[in-house]
Amino acid sequence: MVLKKLTWKSILPGCLKSESSSYPEPKQICSQRLSISDFSNPGSPISFSDLSSSIFNLHVFALKELRTITQEFSKSNYLGEGGFGAVYKGFIDDKLRPGLKAQPVAVKALDPDGSQGHREWLAEVIFLGQLKHRHLVNLIGYCCEDEHRLLVYEYVERGNLEDKLFYRYSAALPWLTRLKIAIGAAKGLAFLHEEEKPVIYRDFKASNVLLDSDYNAKLSDFGLAMDGPEGDHTHITTRVMGTEGYAAPEYIMTGHLTTMSDVFSFGVVLLELLTGRRSVDKNLPNREQNLVKWARPQLKDPRKLDKIMDPRLEGQYSTEGARKAAGLAYQCLSQHSKSRPTMSTVVRTLEQLLDLTDTPIGTFVCIVPTEGKIHGGVEKKGNEGKNECDEIKNGNKCEGKEVGIKEKAGCEHNQRGRRHRRRAKSLRNRAVYSDTALYKTLGTGLYFPRN
Ligand SMILES: Nc1ncnc2c1ncn2[C@@H]1O[C@H](COP(=O)(O)OP(=O)(O)OP(=O)(O)O)[C@@H](O)[C@H]1O
Ligand SMILES: [Mg+2]
Repeated sequence: MVLKKLTWKSILPGCLKSESSSYPEPKQICSQRLSISDFSNPGSPISFSDLSSSIFNLHVFALKELRTITQEFSKSNYLGEGGFGAVYKGFIDDKLRPGLKAQPVAVKALDPDGSQGHREWLAEVIFLGQLKHRHLVNLIGYCCEDEHRLLVYEYVERGNLEDKLFYRYSAALPWLTRLKIAIGAAKGLAFLHEEEKPVIYRDFKASNVLLDSDYNAKLSDFGLAMDGPEGDHTHITTRVMGTEGYAAPEYIMTGHLTTMSDVFSFGVVLLELLTGRRSVDKNLPNREQNLVKWARPQLKDPRKLDKIMDPRLEGQYSTEGARKAAGLAYQCLSQHSKSRPTMSTVVRTLEQLLDLTDTPIGTFVCIVPTEGKIHGGVEKKGNEGKNECDEIKNGNKCEGKEVGIKEKAGCEHNQRGRRHRRRAKSLRNRAVYSDTALYKTLGTGLYFPRN
């Protein structure tokens, strides 16, 4: 095994300018992946000379460069905002830096008043700097100047699954596309869980699944990710973090975290894909607000299942496939973590559903936007032209609660009122952005295959 001698100085270039005399002892690190625990003291004067770029294959950008490529973080480049901060589209090429592949990027800037900070930024850099996979978003580089913390990712064309699945502005996702997305996301999680040092993702939810132009799923947001238990340990114990409606019950109750906590969250997203309902929807009657509580008892009964399937699918799905996917979701959502399947079993089970003979194939959907309205299929969908979405209403109503558990989209992160208003505004912008983007892409009435 190749042993590499790394010092704290050598880990992150361009970061933490102040150097102190009290460096931790140099560490002997083998070619194994570096962990967040190798950086357990966030105040450590990690410096920037002497980088071993073979470990962190990342570009270090100057703030000035990122300002340039996002046109000063202009509104027209704004993609959205989450707990970390705002995200902007930009473009890089070798004029910016020799050797850079010309490509669009997404630049995420830490909001200094937000709920996340250096620790989450560092987790992203450490995990995504080392983990490369088709179903994980590619981190291209970062910026760490004074108090500024930014991340530069590949730009993922279709944005996140939450928008695609729930916004009325988006055309309904066909059955096979949903399956493809579920399989891609499951492969991303399986990869993390099967690493030599397993990674627990901890924040699996629809808004963290990005979709490329071919609907390949890519997991994003590693700010909450953690290394799994080592040696004889069965779990790690940690503060409960995550998003309401997605976190596993045993994790919420005890703070005990395992890869099976991710499997539960995957089950919730699978349920969202099947039903077209959000994991938590405060606009529904009380007993229907929590998706898992409402849907789980109905998953095993084929007659009941038909009734809870997403009406936007208009019956265009494989009956057997839906039944099997529902059975799988049921297992993933088991109260007993040990009864849940591993993610590689999930991948195998879902892949088999692609071959079912009763799967509807290749019907076409025509999307012809008209002023203020977007119509899916041939029929006009009456309320799709509404300017205000339900999420914005949620954002204004949100009261925030439960330390560490983020409220669902729209009522952001149990933060102060200011943050809620900002999130509501951000969502409003997102809705406008999606509308414009859709219009640009589909404005001439192009035909899109259903899968
Ligand atoms: N690499 C990317 N390519 C394209 N769009 C992106 C990319 N990364 C993030 N976005 C978009 O930026 C917006 C904000 O994303 P972000 O992950 O910061 O927040 P979130 O997932 O909505 O919330 P949370 O903080 O709870 O994860 C989303 O609309 C997302 O689709
Ligand atoms: Mg996210």
